Amino acid sequence: MSESTDPRPRRTLLVTSALPYANGPIHIGHLVEYIQADIWVRYLRMRGHRCIHVCADDGHGTPIMLKAEQEGMSPEDLIDRIGEEHRADFRDFAISFDNYHTTHSAENRELCELIYTRLRDAGHIDTRRVLQAFDRAKGMFLPDRYVKGTCPNCGAPDQYGDNCEVCGATYSPSDLSDAVSVISGEPPDMRESEHYFVRLADFETILRQWIRGERNVETSASPRSTPPVQKEIANKLDEWFEKGLEDWDISRDAPYFGFEIPGIEDKKYFYVWLDAPIGYMASFRHLCNRDPELDFDAFWKPDSKVELCHFVGKDIAYFHTLFWPAMLHGAGFRMPTDVFVHGFLTVNGQKMSKRTGTFIKARTFLDHADPEYLRYYFACKLASGIEDMDLNFDDFRQRVNADLVGKVVNIASRCAGFIHRRFDGKLAARLEGTKELFDEVAPTSKRIADLYEAREFAKAMREISAFADRVNRHIDDRKPWNLIKEEATWPEVHEVCTGGLNLFRAIMIWLSPVLPEMAERAGEFLRSNPLGWDDAATALLDRKIAPFEPLLTRLEAKTLEAMVASSVEAAPESSGDQDGSASPDSSGIADRIGIEEFMKVDLRVAKVIEAEAVEGSDKLIKLQVDVGEEDPRTIFAGIRAAYEPRSLIGRHVVIVANLAPRTMRFGVSQAMMLSAGSDDSAQQVFVLEVDEGARPGMRVR
Ligand code: MSP
Ligand code: ZN
Repeated sequence: MSESTDPRPRRTLLVTSALPYANGPIHIGHLVEYIQADIWVRYLRMRGHRCIHVCADDGHGTPIMLKAEQEGMSPEDLIDRIGEEHRADFRDFAISFDNYHTTHSAENRELCELIYTRLRDAGHIDTRRVLQAFDRAKGMFLPDRYVKGTCPNCGAPDQYGDNCEVCGATYSPSDLSDAVSVISGEPPDMRESEHYFVRLADFETILRQWIRGERNVETSASPRSTPPVQKEIANKLDEWFEKGLEDWDISRDAPYFGFEIPGIEDKKYFYVWLDAPIGYMASFRHLCNRDPELDFDAFWKPDSKVELCHFVGKDIAYFHTLFWPAMLHGAGFRMPTDVFVHGFLTVNGQKMSKRTGTFIKARTFLDHADPEYLRYYFACKLASGIEDMDLNFDDFRQRVNADLVGKVVNIASRCAGFIHRRFDGKLAARLEGTKELFDEVAPTSKRIADLYEAREFAKAMREISAFADRVNRHIDDRKPWNLIKEEATWPEVHEVCTGGLNLFRAIMIWLSPVLPEMAERAGEFLRSNPLGWDDAATALLDRKIAPFEPLLTRLEAKTLEAMVASSVEAAPESSGDQDGSASPDSSGIADRIGIEEFMKVDLRVAKVIEAEAVEGSDKLIKLQVDVGEEDPRTIFAGIRAAYEPRSLIGRHVVIVANLAPRTMRFGVSQAMMLSAGSDDSAQQVFVLEVDEGARPGMRVR
């Protein structure tokens, strides 16, 4: 790779992505983060900066301990197995970690003990007795999410011990009426035990300074003058400061899978969220052990000039913007330069769901499709803010097929043909007619660079795609397929196609942080690997290229359908947050929707005016219903096993009036009639009726 001409001085960065829990597979939601970080890291490396990306598996905590037990293995064996799977997933999605470690490591234990003892010796640790739910049958204290019962506020049954999903009240497990342990099903005892706390309020001043980007007053450390958190997060932090910083409980009682707290008589463990972020340091230390050029202290001393950048999801911003910087500072280490928070992924506008097959594992994706499709789509959607982003299947195919295959690959395929057929696979010696467009490469490169730097990937992709449009238009205007007909204009064809391929090369260079493998294939085709950032503006002339091979194929609807089909799982299961992932969700209630979504469903009262059995079907009844103003509608309802058609006439039922008409074998159904029913018996169907007095056409809500 050629030396960078980035005018700014060469930077050194230590970048981290959040450590995935070692109790479940990587899914496409996680990948938002790892892909975002990887694109940024690859871009910076291309510009000649020294950028080290470390990660690890988050191996401790109650859910992992219990999952191992369920699977009849030791927690060590479980996290080893899952660690292997995670590594393979990241490798196959081309996430270029410099090191991938585990929090259950010697390096991490040592650093946890060091940080804890430094905090303790500086007087930042308090102890206090805490009352907590205890499962006698199981012999263990229960995290709040392992206790369920009736909400003390609204009476909703089956709520977790920390908050009610129905009314939103927060409370502690002892407030629940008829509480039971999720593990044994028995009512828990309340027991006391001694807990260790970090006095977070000790760090309020330094945290406030840090958030405003002022900490360098003290240490002159930050190589960046911008605040370390995004605006939305800074606002959130202000709220937390206003509420007052509470002490943070960092201890857990045995049995627990984690590190024992040193220097105390009882057997107590560090809470997983104490040792997890220290896992970033430990992974880096582990890398230093292999690479003697790396100086651990230079990266972590208070006045370090290295940029420390964490990529995290919004659900864990709290840990990374309060606890973690406080811990670092309190233990005499530097604070983070940036915490880049991102939003959550939804699929087709909904939370990912196993029931509908949109909870897609990284491995399932890989089994069906090229991982670079997803890298590209995420790049198209990612910005520097914390908004959620949606993976919409139609849009996904459109972006991949229209932008990548239709625009970018198309440039190469249309130009390569002529070069091989007519010019023996050799590029022309001059650009000539394409020169003007080629002169745009350098300024465009600069704009794209700034967008990558600012993590505005969606804007960068739009810039690239707009440039590809211009290149295609240019080729269309020059019409090489006409010019090739006359020998006199062959030199022109040669130049247009040489220009087109050089512009294609620039585009692939710009895309290479996102599509490293496709860029590599493009580089092989042009015989110009490796592609450096600054190579975009220098033309390849008068040299041979390799035969053209398809660089990327279209993403077909059936590929996504197959992916979804193999992701459908019968049993609902929560997506895996630490204290909740092993707790079963037994309600069977579908994913929640907002009121706006509900309001889209137009429910109406309808009066049944005719009802007859459908000949040739033993399931269907054909109904005519009066819906007020408009003409009567026809409905085919699958309730023959439960109702005698005539008995329905005259009833006031509820229909979905705005359901798209469905063509059935016996005619078109123009609405749907609501009924209650059991999934496994066709006889158990109960049509919904409204009380007397309701008129046809009335809205139901
Ligand atoms: N183990 C903790 C992190 C410890 S870091 C010191 C954890 N693990 S996690 O596996 O639940 O999540 C890992 C990362 O993936 C987090 O940053 C989380 O926000 C992110 N995501 C998990 N699901 C996600 C989506 N559906 N969408 C986007 N990011 C998501 O939290
Ligand atoms: Zn409630």
